[in-house]
Amino acid sequence: MALLIPFVFLAYIVLYAFAFSIPPAASWLGVGHAQHVQEPLQDSFESWLVEEEKIALDKLLANVAPGGRNVQDAAPGSVIASPSREHPNYFYQWVRDAAITTGTLVDLYADDTSSPLASELSSLLDDYAELQDKIQHTSNPSGTFSDLSGLGEPKFEADGTPFVGSWGRPQRDGPALRAITLMAYLRAYNTSHPSLWDSDNADDWFQPFYEASMPPNSMIKADLEYVAQYWNQSGFDLWEEVQGLHFFTVMVQLRALREGSDLALAFGDHGAADWYAQQASHLTDFLHNFWDEAKGHLVETLHSSRTGLDCGLLLGSLHANPSSYVSHEAIYPPHSDEILLSLLYLVQDQRARFPINSSPSATSPDEDAEILQGTGLGRYPEDVYDGYGTDARGGNPWFLCTSSAAEILYRTATHLSSSSNSTLTITPRGLPFYEALLSSSSLVPEAGKTYGSSDALFHSVIERLRDAGDEFLDVVRVHAEAGGALSEQFDRVTGFERGARDLTWSYGALIQAVRARRAGA
Ligand code: NOJ
Ligand code: NOJ
Repeated sequence: MALLIPFVFLAYIVLYAFAFSIPPAASWLGVGHAQHVQEPLQDSFESWLVEEEKIALDKLLANVAPGGRNVQDAAPGSVIASPSREHPNYFYQWVRDAAITTGTLVDLYADDTSSPLASELSSLLDDYAELQDKIQHTSNPSGTFSDLSGLGEPKFEADGTPFVGSWGRPQRDGPALRAITLMAYLRAYNTSHPSLWDSDNADDWFQPFYEASMPPNSMIKADLEYVAQYWNQSGFDLWEEVQGLHFFTVMVQLRALREGSDLALAFGDHGAADWYAQQASHLTDFLHNFWDEAKGHLVETLHSSRTGLDCGLLLGSLHANPSSYVSHEAIYPPHSDEILLSLLYLVQDQRARFPINSSPSATSPDEDAEILQGTGLGRYPEDVYDGYGTDARGGNPWFLCTSSAAEILYRTATHLSSSSNSTLTITPRGLPFYEALLSSSSLVPEAGKTYGSSDALFHSVIERLRDAGDEFLDVVRVHAEAGGALSEQFDRVTGFERGARDLTWSYGALIQAVRARRAGA
């Protein structure tokens, strides 16, 4: 980590100058906001990205113990959601936030397991695993370890003790996300330390057991058993507000069980491998319920009075479809019609909803509605959480949702351009997305047609996907604080940051979007 410091220091100076030349409020006044400009973004965007990626890693690690400057008093291995201890108090470890952002650290570790950064990260990852093992066994208001019900507890104190206040519990995405992160670490670790599989501490991670006895005796197995046993029971959504069955939760549960089945097989635990595969196939069937034909998009929660458009749809696609380790048929991947349409309609809603998103150059609201351009995205249309409490006038855009939209677009571009003979078939279902994407071009996509590398439209789609991804990240740039800090939200009217400061997940989502951009470059 010491190596990072000089970089980050330089970055501060550069960004400082930057942020002052384009204050967030400028976007409100319609000045200096690059998101409506059709030409490629300037060099300043590229250099911002390079610096912001380093700043994001530094600030993410500041929220991870031991060693993080914001978490001196937290248990080793804890990842706090934000250093903010009041207004709002986010000084807790959420199982979801911690698993997702630790997953980003695993990706960085896996890039080059012999790098100095990787050895720093490896010790943090070991601490994370050790603390999660302890947390799994901690009785809490959701239940205990003996029947696994306690694994549905969404958040713990920074010292690893249970949080006993009232809360939206249980949340059933946590164990799935934690298993995904631990399995990814195990795979990455194993590429450089092939002896792990039979070493003593492998038992803490995954251990076969051949009777259907409870509780399981290892970390990943406990999470997988929880998912396999409880996935069809309702719980709170990723935003901790509504009880029901949720797209994001089901998507990550499916990935956990599929990869868990592979892992069980590798350990010779055939009973578990079959059981997880069986549940995964039920989950695959069940997922089709989230497509709403009448609405023409996916919905986040079944039988809900909301529209169902939700940033959780984007996150579900991203977190259930790994960009590496692809051993199963993708389900609702970023490039699927269903995800791209849901993104389009969410973007259209949020453009119209938040003043900072309105385009000063549009001559009519219709003109604005039919395009796909960088937009500050919030969680969902009906949101009223303003980062501190309830605001009946509505919520705000979130950094992590805006970055996730960029990641969806980059990954779609990479998918299309990755193989030399890849093609794009425009279906009647997917047509509105491609029309909106190409609205500023003279090329007109046609339903039922297949385009390949000899077609201009194919190349325009890829280029426009990448440019649109950049426009979303440029919204992050415009609203980031001087010094590159990212909070949870930015104000829908003034554009200034709101809500918990230095949100760990905001940094993780930015890093993932930048990685996805680079992967397709
Ligand atoms: C509120 C968000 O809705 C939830 O997803 C998150 O886990 C917590 N904040 C902590 O960041
Ligand atoms: C029995 C299997 O053998 C075991 O490994 C599996 O995970 C459980 N059933 C499910 O609880």
